[in-house]
Amino acid sequence: MSESNNQKSTNSQWGGRFSEAVDTFVEKFTASIEFDQRMYRQDIAGSIAHATMLEKVGVLTSDELNQIINGLQEVQQDIENGNMEWSIALEDVHMNIEARLTDKIGITGKKLHTGRSRNDQVATDIRLYVRDEIDFICEEITRLQEGLLMLAEREAATIMPGFTHLQTAQPVTFGHHMMAWFEMLSRDFERFQDCRKRVNRSPLGAAALAGTTYPIDRAMTAKLLGFDAPTENSLDSVSDRDFAIELCAASSLLMTHLSRASEELILWTSAQFNFIDLPDRFCTGSSIMPQKKNPDVPELVRGKAGRVTGHLMSLLMLMKAQPLAYNKDNQEDKEPLFDVIDNVKGCLRAYADMIPAIQVKEASMREAARRGFSTATDLADYLVRKGMPFRDAHEVVGKSVGYGIDQDKDLSDMNLEELQQFSDMISEDVFDVLTLEGSVNARDHIGGTAPKQVIAAVARGKQRLAER
Ligand code: ARG
Repeated sequence: MSESNNQKSTNSQWGGRFSEAVDTFVEKFTASIEFDQRMYRQDIAGSIAHATMLEKVGVLTSDELNQIINGLQEVQQDIENGNMEWSIALEDVHMNIEARLTDKIGITGKKLHTGRSRNDQVATDIRLYVRDEIDFICEEITRLQEGLLMLAEREAATIMPGFTHLQTAQPVTFGHHMMAWFEMLSRDFERFQDCRKRVNRSPLGAAALAGTTYPIDRAMTAKLLGFDAPTENSLDSVSDRDFAIELCAASSLLMTHLSRASEELILWTSAQFNFIDLPDRFCTGSSIMPQKKNPDVPELVRGKAGRVTGHLMSLLMLMKAQPLAYNKDNQEDKEPLFDVIDNVKGCLRAYADMIPAIQVKEASMREAARRGFSTATDLADYLVRKGMPFRDAHEVVGKSVGYGIDQDKDLSDMNLEELQQFSDMISEDVFDVLTLEGSVNARDHIGGTAPKQVIAAVARGKQRLAER
């Protein structure tokens, strides 16, 4: 990275009206090249589309267009081969690339910027960048969901305790629990897709803020870049970053979901729960306690959820007091946005790799479900089916549970006589409902935990993924 100094002449891209060079510190302070260079591909694609349009409307000759396109392609190769020296004096990715083009092709390079501004240029670049990343994020969500479907299908009949208030509530199946995560991620996927619609509009042609006097064809550049249409208003086009904020909002919700899943994985791998095992390759040890195997990946994902949501707050605060149209404040959108994208991709990758490798400890989960009076509601429902009002049934079962606590016995461990002391409506058939299998099989409706229903939900889930 080269730096200029105060003795040097003023910036070649905008120095015309300046009589002294920019302060060396200010130059560095205001530059974005260190972080916006990652948009070089989008910047070059945007420039090629712009130049192509300028030629069509007669602003550039076809010879000039060819020079510009070839030159830009060479610049791209230089960047990809590590032969580009980014200059802080040239402030950002846009001016660095344009200067490099002009070095290569001479005066024609200086014609590229006709009828546009860095303001619509940067807005175009970010939208193209975000669109590409949304597509990748959505592929990763799908890959993770495929893993969840595989696990849900395999463990559709595996009993575990379901919790409310983190207290044992009713038995569920592990497959059903995985399908809950699947649903959360389905909504995340939809949110990214929905955000993509608003991202995919072309601001190119808005120029600095008011449009341009050249006979530009905005529909053409929009089409060349794969946008659905041009944006409607030039002031709005160069100014708002709501589409980036939406991406961060969708990301924050996704990360919240991954963080909740992480919390459960962390609990489940503990000795106290002992429900699952994560393969060693997703864990690390302790330098002092030789017995430790820590669930680092879920913990880090849980931590990164805070970081991502923090960036959402940054961008909202960045935007909230800006008058129309473009303000330099907006240069601050990139680092939070890029960090969100990088971390979301990292977390999704780790999860998509890790989920199919989860090993389920069936016996241990079953024992936990058996221990916590998890079939108490089933006993109440049984009494209701025999004609007892639900409130009375609740009372009878409450007493049975109290007795079980005193005697250290689960409901299914009690014999018929013991159960009958609480109600003479109880007979031999009660044991069909007090078993864990009886309990889950009875929840046999759409969205219920019966293994049959989980299998059906998996089939619908596969269908939905296939339709994406
Ligand atoms: N580097 C700037 C950004 O990221 C590009 C636009 C600069 N425009 C301007 N008028 N200073 O937003």
